[in-house]
Order: sequence, then structure tokens, then C-alpha cells
Amino acid sequence: MTALTILAGSVYGNAQHAADTVASALGEDGIDCTVLSDPQVSDVEEAEALLVITSTTGQGDIPPNLELVFAELREQFPLLNRKPFAVAALGDSSYGDTYCGAGVQWHELLTELQGKPVADVCKVDAMESLEPEKDVTAFVTSVKDELIS
Ligand SMILES: Cc1cc2nc3c(=O)[nH]c(=O)nc-3n(C[C@H](O)[C@H](O)[C@H](O)COP(=O)(O)O)c2cc1C
Repeated sequence: MTALTILAGSVYGNAQHAADTVASALGEDGIDCTVLSDPQVSDVEEAEALLVITSTTGQGDIPPNLELVFAELREQFPLLNRKPFAVAALGDSSYGDTYCGAGVQWHELLTELQGKPVADVCKVDAMESLEPEKDVTAFVTSVKDELIS
């Protein structure tokens, strides 16, 4: 079975908690998951399948702990050869145009790198959801079969 690499981008801990929750739920199903909070380009290149779980900070910005790998991926442009990926974005719709901007940027970049998106960005709105980890887990469960085969 495919192993899943989860990149967690978080400022205040919500997205990190969601990533850890997803990993333990999938782990109970026997799926090999690794959560990375300080990933390298090589982690992305070597992953069998990728799940990005990220909040948005600033004005549509990527959390600092994923900024470097994002910039390096953009610069080095390693092709991902249809590697399956999904993105879950935690945000707040009161930010308007920048709602879930970091997740959208990740989805665009991984698509440009020729990864294979298994779904549109899953957006979880802090205005509506008090337990984002539950929404993210439900999303991942719904795409699990395409992501991990
Ligand atoms: C300073 C600050 C800036 C934010 N900027 C945005 C934004 O531009 N777009 C958005 O959708 N959410 C924005 N948010 C909302 C966060 O993404 C949201 O609260 C998320 O759940 C935080 O997750 P975290 O604890 O993993 O960082 C912002 C929150 C803060 C505190």
C-alpha cells in the first residue's frame, strides 16, 4: 500500500492538530503516514502520495514553517510525475479574497509540478467549523482511495 506524506503548515496549531488527527485515523487503518512540519524538497520528491494540510496567514500567505520548501520547490521545479496529491486548507472566509490562499497556492504549485490532484482544495472555514480536524479527516477519508492505492 502507498505511504502518505503529510505536510503540515500551521501558525497556531490548528492545521498541525488536523494533520496529526488524520495521521492517527489513517494509521488505525494500517496506512503508513508521516507528518512533516519542516519538510525538505527531497521529502516531496520521494513521497509516494502527498497531503498538504495548511492554514493561511498574513494576507493569503503560507505559514512560515512551509515557506522555505514552497520557495525551493518553485525554484528547483522537480517534476512529480503524476504523484497523487490533495490539499486541505484551513482559513477564515472573513479574510475575503485571501480565503484559504495558502492551500490554493499549494494546489497550484503541485499541479504545475505535474502532480495528480485527486480533488479540488478542501476549504475549512474557521467562521463555520469549530473542529477543523473533523472536516479535514472527513475530506481525507473521502479521497483516500484515490490518494493511496
Ligand atoms: C494574522 C492572521 C492572518 C490570517 N490570514 C488569513 C488569510 O489571509 N486567509 C484566510 O483564509 N485565513 C487567514 N487567517 C485565518 C487562519 O488561517 C485560521 O484561523 C486557521 O484556522 C489557523 O490555523 P493554524 O492554527 O494552523 O495556524 C489568518 C489568521 C491570523 C491570526
